[in-house]
Amino acid sequence: MNLLALQQLKERGEKIAVLTSYDASFAALSDKAGVDVLLVGDSLGMTIQGHTSTLPVSLRDMEYHTRCVAQGVQQAFIVTDMPFGSYQINPEQAFENAALLMAAGAQMVKVEGGNIMLDTVRFLVERGIPVCGHLGLTPQSVHQFGGYRVQARDEAAARQLLEDAKALAAAGAGMLVLEMVPTALAAAVSQAIKIPVIGIGAGKYCDGQVLVLQDMLGIYAGKSPRFVRNFMQGATSIEQAISDYVAAVKAQTFPDTEHSFE
Ligand code: KIV
Ligand code: NA
Repeated sequence: MNLLALQQLKERGEKIAVLTSYDASFAALSDKAGVDVLLVGDSLGMTIQGHTSTLPVSLRDMEYHTRCVAQGVQQAFIVTDMPFGSYQINPEQAFENAALLMAAGAQMVKVEGGNIMLDTVRFLVERGIPVCGHLGLTPQSVHQFGGYRVQARDEAAARQLLEDAKALAAAGAGMLVLEMVPTALAAAVSQAIKIPVIGIGAGKYCDGQVLVLQDMLGIYAGKSPRFVRNFMQGATSIEQAISDYVAAVKAQTFPDTEHSFE
């Protein structure tokens, strides 16, 4: 899998299945089950480290888990989150840290934010590092938002998000994650830009879907958000649960309205 092939999936209307991954064993299993993209998410601050947010995750943590995942993968495209504090200062800081994640095995890095990230996205992409954007609920800003809540509900915020998405794509971003935004807005964004839009709690009309592995296996100790489906229900193995997830994304039977915000 590579960026060009992901782009072609969007053009053909085939949905892209994305799952988070933090270690070689699950990475190999997800890879075998047909997951297109493995995201080494800073959600590992919660799923692996037991924190209540992604804020304490370090660059070293992300390098380590990226190396682990890369060992397990043969097909899937690997995207790694840039952790809080590792890219917000300036494009140079972002490049220096993104380069370490690429050396660890990432094929693309993900940064949170719209307008404020444009220079950084351009700087990285022009120097050979593919970048994924992340808009809507950006968990590194949880304290600014006052909790994990649906974003861009009013018209002005929706318009701003659409503008940010277009600007990120124009700056060279190769993919975009939309988290916890209304279904209609996510659909509009997916239509407005050429790069694949991957939704989580963003309705069924995105170009692909992403879930946190521990959420979709029903093994996260904390509270899972409402947009999650437990794919272990009805499955007899973890591998089956993951291939059921891939199949549901491709068939557009997940997410349903119960996992979305109208
Ligand atoms: O860290 C993560 O797992 C993510 C996804 C939820 C998109 O950023
Ligand atoms: Na993340």
